[in-house]
Amino acid sequence: MNHDSLITVTKLLQMKQAAEKISVLTSYDASFTTLIENSSCEVILVGDSLGMVVQGKESTVPVTMTEMLYHTTMVRRSSENCLVIADMPFLSYSTKELALKNAGKLMKLGGAHMVKLEGGAIRLETVKALSDNSIPVCAHLGLLPQSIHKLGGYKVQGRDDSQASSILDDALALQRAGADLLVLECVPAPLAAKITNSLEIPTIGIGAGVECDGQVLVIYDMLGITPGKRPRFSKDFLLESNGSIQTAINNYVSAVRDGSFPTLEHSYK
Ligand code: KIV
Repeated sequence: MNHDSLITVTKLLQMKQAAEKISVLTSYDASFTTLIENSSCEVILVGDSLGMVVQGKESTVPVTMTEMLYHTTMVRRSSENCLVIADMPFLSYSTKELALKNAGKLMKLGGAHMVKLEGGAIRLETVKALSDNSIPVCAHLGLLPQSIHKLGGYKVQGRDDSQASSILDDALALQRAGADLLVLECVPAPLAAKITNSLEIPTIGIGAGVECDGQVLVIYDMLGITPGKRPRFSKDFLLESNGSIQTAINNYVSAVRDGSFPTLEHSYK
């Protein structure tokens, strides 16, 4: 059953305060958006993961603003009550002026309710500029897919003490700068729990353990249709859903809500 009113930033904050888990799924088109809207998922992320799962590219780096705008528009055309976040693609927010211009396009032309950008200390000025201009921001720490060529691979981040404390410091600084939500990707579960408990804004984990305030998965991964090996942090919800995509989405949302997903098997120590 979908929500009977629009999910807002305030509602997500209230959910954190009430210890209610937030469900997030990616969507890139109208049909998946309708199925997500028919569930009780709160948030849709138009992720730049579309570069890999839709376009077959090696990483998210080549994704363009034109493409993000195109997919955000398609999602918003059939979204009703979910809060829709649009990813800002690689180098579309390298200065605060550029970020304002491109985030403005995603909101004014694409209809996004919030934009997401990757990075910590280096993004503070940009996050503040967006927030001061009434653009809700989802920050993203841990594994940063747009930095894959610098990171040298998709690896768990924050395993040593100094990296862990710099991720925590970045999280606190992003909150102070005005971020409304924080995605934590591939960080050890105890670190994600510590960050979650230190922040007022909700954390959304992917490979970050069950203690985050919510979870996100790439919809193609949770349906088991992404080619290649399934990432450890994902689960194929279609397997136990008699081939029904709607049931798989409903089961994902229920599992996030009751804390049965993710398990230790989907998390890192
Ligand atoms: O692009 C995306 O889908 C994402 C999620 C994996 C968090 O950033």
